[in-house]
Amino acid sequence: MKKITLIAVFILASTFAIVSFASEAKETPKTVLVTGASSGIGLKITEVLAENGYIVYAGARKDDDLKRLEAMENVESVKLDVTDQEQINAAVKKIADKGRGLDALVNNAGIAVIGPLIEVPVEELEWQMNVNVLGPFRVTQAFAPMIIESKGRITTTGSISGILSGSMFGHYSMSKHAVEAFTDSLAKEMERFDVQVSVIEPGNYASKIGESYIKRLEKKGYWGEDSAYVDELTRMKAGMANAAQSKDPKEVAEAVMHALFSDKPKRRYMVVPHAGQADYTLRQVMTEMLQLNQDQPYSFSREQLIEMMDAQMKAL
Ligand SMILES: NC(=O)c1ccc[n+]([C@@H]2O[C@H](COP(=O)([O-])OP(=O)(O)OC[C@H]3O[C@@H](n4cnc5c(N)ncnc54)[C@H](OP(=O)(O)O)[C@@H]3O)[C@@H](O)[C@H]2O)c1
Repeated sequence: MKKITLIAVFILASTFAIVSFASEAKETPKTVLVTGASSGIGLKITEVLAENGYIVYAGARKDDDLKRLEAMENVESVKLDVTDQEQINAAVKKIADKGRGLDALVNNAGIAVIGPLIEVPVEELEWQMNVNVLGPFRVTQAFAPMIIESKGRITTTGSISGILSGSMFGHYSMSKHAVEAFTDSLAKEMERFDVQVSVIEPGNYASKIGESYIKRLEKKGYWGEDSAYVDELTRMKAGMANAAQSKDPKEVAEAVMHALFSDKPKRRYMVVPHAGQADYTLRQVMTEMLQLNQDQPYSFSREQLIEMMDAQMKAL
């Protein structure tokens, strides 16, 4: 009789524990701030996180976008221009005042400046860096105490342009290369706080990034007929105008989910819509390695390089 009572108590206690854990998870879903949530990849990340029950603080700049995001289930919009320190400070206060803490930060807001390095005015490079590099830098610094408090996660939307740099993409590639360095240094510095840091490196996915920059170029009159690169620019413009027709970025959002919530997040998530983009991105990494190795006093042989590669694969 005593044994039966004990078993019953155990079952009841276990059931209570499971129910209370589940309801705790339900009552206190994890919170994520996504910058640049109004369109493209940021909007998709917001949708996927919200559908999975996370609370998303969706950063946007325009009132219409803020309203549209606020109307989504599990989403609370936050006015957030990543170049405006006052807005960032206000966003910290707003999120802190909600009292739920912050479990993850997704530095996603970004723009693309396209054009020849020797022609596009320096103000465009300043703007490029201000949004894509100083933006994540400012936002990360501002939210670091909350992320440290939650032993949370930080991810930044980089790009395969953080590896590749081609003609007409210099400004953008410089900014995305900086995101790679930002990620690696931050990851090391955050280890002591149990905060994991990663970078998402998408290939081409549907968004407004091309359309937005074409509008800016036209407004500013930089799309000069007198450019030495007029043919490339014309081709580029056509390509960017079609960017909205690229693949839906759902797989990019799924990679973000992995970076934020898996037990073993990766440092780098290359997410590309077809094998060709993976192929030339990886070949670029290999070319750089071979260029570094070439004709210098400490060059390694092919066999030694393969051994090094095997050892690094094991360490990953
Ligand atoms: N689409 C791709 O193929 C691709 C590939 C690799 C990497 N990426 C990266 O993905 C990220 C998202 O871009 P996307 O392609 O999804 O383009 P998008 O549709 O143009 O989205 C960009 C987002 O960033 C926001 N934004 C721009 N400037 C901002 C600022 N100063 N402060 C705060 N938010 C700002 C935009 O807000 P507004 O609506 O207010 O302008 C928008 O929400 C960027 O970092 C981009 O470099 C995109």
